Amino acid sequence: MIQSAAPECIKILLVEDQPGDALLTQTMLSEAAPNGFMLTHVSSIRRAVQNLKEGPCDVVLLDLSLPDTCGLETVNSILEVAPSVPIVVLSGLSNERLAIQSMQQGAQDYLIKGQVDGNLLLRTVCFAIERKRLVENARNQAEVLEQCVQELEQMDKTKNEFVSFVAHELKTPMIVAALALGRLESENAGSLNDEQKQLIGMLQRNISRVTALVNGVLNLSYLKAGRIQLAWTEVDLHALLVEAACLLAPLAQDRRGVVRTQELEAPLRVRCDPDKVIQILVNLASNSFKHNECGTTVVMGVRQSGTRAQIGVHDDGKGIAKHEHAKLFRPFGQITTDSGGRISGLGLAISKALVEAHGGNLLLISDEGEGCTFSFDLEAAGATAAEHAKPELG
Ligand SMILES: Nc1ncnc2c1ncn2[C@@H]1O[C@H](COP(=O)(O)OP(=O)(O)OP(=O)(O)O)[C@@H](O)[C@H]1O
Ligand SMILES: [Mg+2]
Repeated sequence: MIQSAAPECIKILLVEDQPGDALLTQTMLSEAAPNGFMLTHVSSIRRAVQNLKEGPCDVVLLDLSLPDTCGLETVNSILEVAPSVPIVVLSGLSNERLAIQSMQQGAQDYLIKGQVDGNLLLRTVCFAIERKRLVENARNQAEVLEQCVQELEQMDKTKNEFVSFVAHELKTPMIVAALALGRLESENAGSLNDEQKQLIGMLQRNISRVTALVNGVLNLSYLKAGRIQLAWTEVDLHALLVEAACLLAPLAQDRRGVVRTQELEAPLRVRCDPDKVIQILVNLASNSFKHNECGTTVVMGVRQSGTRAQIGVHDDGKGIAKHEHAKLFRPFGQITTDSGGRISGLGLAISKALVEAHGGNLLLISDEGEGCTFSFDLEAAGATAAEHAKPELG
């Protein structure tokens, strides 16, 4: 065992079974940095492992062919006992491929024996130490990030459970309050003057709003938790659009607007939960009337794109600025109104979750002053059947 010591220096473990090569390495290092390193030399993997177990070093200079091991196994033996110590492989000319494989395995660099001088050797050692330090830092940061993600996911789950618990607990008192107000309104509990009737009306409207909000929160939390089962079936898409348009007609009329469905060139059947698709269409189209001036026109159309049916809900309203789009699909995602106020809701978040439960995407094309086009896709039942039929026909 050869040792050369200097204070404040790099601790090098040289694993080399050829005494001549070991001496040459030590001489080159001594010339390049007389006081810059402390070298410990061992000539077998067994001694190297023992040495690393006894105390750390800054870098291992590793010959791959030793009396008790050879090839990649040599690298693995070092990595097993000292995974954070950088390794520089000392390779013969004929073994360069193996040296490169060693780097893929976890070594930091390699040097070809006979093609090295002291300065190159020292620089390689320093680079290997620095490279390993960077890799370890990156790994530590990745671990910390992974831990943060797990904690955030757990917090999000706890928050969702808490929100759905609160929403669920609010439901019963709301039903009781609505029933009690219904009794008061019917004057079963005594006659009412005009002011009392007005107050009851106001209370009923507010209870309806809170009930809708509570139902929305529950809906969304059940969807996120995968607790809503879709009732899959094959339906005619145009018939669904017409049904949604019928449901929207009173709102359209109230807002002096129009809701239309575009005729399809050919019948198109889709695989979906029809009630949920109608819920999506009503959510999207009712927004067009609720959030725009009176007189808005809404057109619902469909086109087939491969095995998917693309459904669009278009309005000629005020549109939504592009920078607001991402926020809209979050629960209570707020956007700034014309008057500077903030408005929020659940309709788009629920619609997005429903579309995704169908394996589709909900997209928005819009900008200020351009109207809005929301679109989503469903599996086209006819197209899928045709796709499946192809091999049999061929
Ligand atoms: N067609 C549209 N035209 C203009 N703004 C829209 C349109 N659709 C959605 N928005 C904007 O996006 C916001 C979010 O819509 P979302 O449906 O999620 O909530 P909401 O309609 O406010 O409330 P909720 O649907 O829960 O009753 C709306 O408040 C509105 O500002
Ligand atoms: Mg809405």
